[in-house]
Amino acid sequence: MILVSGATGGIGGEVCRLLEASGTPFRAMARKPEQVETLRRGGMDAVLGDFDRPDTLAAALRDCDVMFLVTPPTPDQFAQETAAIDAAKRAGVGRIVKISASDGNVRSPVPWARTHALIDHHLRSAGIGWTLLKPTAFMQNFLWFKDPVSRGFLPQVTGTGSVSWVDTRDVARVAATVLSQDGHEGATYFLTGPETLDMKGAARHISEVVEHRVRYLNLPKPLFRALLRLTGNSRWMTKGLVVQFADVVAGHHDIDPTFEIERLTGDRARSFADFVRDHREEFAKANS
Ligand SMILES: NC(=O)c1ccc[n+]([C@@H]2O[C@H](COP(=O)([O-])OP(=O)(O)OC[C@H]3O[C@@H](n4cnc5c(N)ncnc54)[C@H](OP(=O)(O)O)[C@@H]3O)[C@@H](O)[C@H]2O)c1
Repeated sequence: MILVSGATGGIGGEVCRLLEASGTPFRAMARKPEQVETLRRGGMDAVLGDFDRPDTLAAALRDCDVMFLVTPPTPDQFAQETAAIDAAKRAGVGRIVKISASDGNVRSPVPWARTHALIDHHLRSAGIGWTLLKPTAFMQNFLWFKDPVSRGFLPQVTGTGSVSWVDTRDVARVAATVLSQDGHEGATYFLTGPETLDMKGAARHISEVVEHRVRYLNLPKPLFRALLRLTGNSRWMTKGLVVQFADVVAGHHDIDPTFEIERLTGDRARSFADFVRDHREEFAKANS
């Protein structure tokens, strides 16, 4: 049995859909009773589990062989994921498949990159099987800027820095594959899209799909910070994102494409153009 955490989220939700479609038995975990009810109404085996209340995890993990572990980036992420790893070990789970990050590094100025590196270390030394999935930045991050894009501007602070953007649906595809197969224990997979794109290149692809000109606007940091706050990001998240984009990406520190998605799943990773086409309506008329 596979336990899928984050079943109401981007990657975890897609993992559930893929496992369901392939007829693989799994149990979806959510932290609120009403979310569990909704998942059950949709026909899934669902269970309550809250990483902030580790006492709820033993029941969620009962009789599970493999766990898919994902949490959102927050100041609580280290406590949540290490509690989950320790609970899985106590419950006799054989392996954890964890969403980490390609830039995980204990010396990184980006808070979640530091946190993932520390959690990865905890997992590798916990005495339980593990598989680490390390995606680069998500194409879905561009949806934060769908309003300015619909008005012809792509705001960022990355200068000429580029990223091997990955689609979260492909990250989920790898997760569903390695959750349901043997042979991935002790493996670390760096997951990227098929190409490295800077913001000018991204704006060009968006322009072609939405059929109006979208220009990259390289903003001063304070303006970008204000925009992130306006789009609903917390102060902590905003600070981290500005460091990630203005220092790390603008400083050309992202990895080159790895092609692991195609090697592991047999199907090529979605390109940025594929992603934009699939979200055309959102980019074209976010505000109309
Ligand atoms: N964004 C990027 O570019 C990027 C790049 C590389 C790696 N990552 C990593 O990807 C991960 C985020 O993946 P995602 O986009 O799929 O996240 P997401 O859509 O934000 O989903 C997070 C899931 O975690 C659940 N959750 C939150 N708090 C919980 C708790 N206390 N107990 C149990 N479940 C809880 C959420 O449930 P609710 O619905 O109840 O909130 C949701 O289902 C992060 O670790 C991030 O560092 C992100």
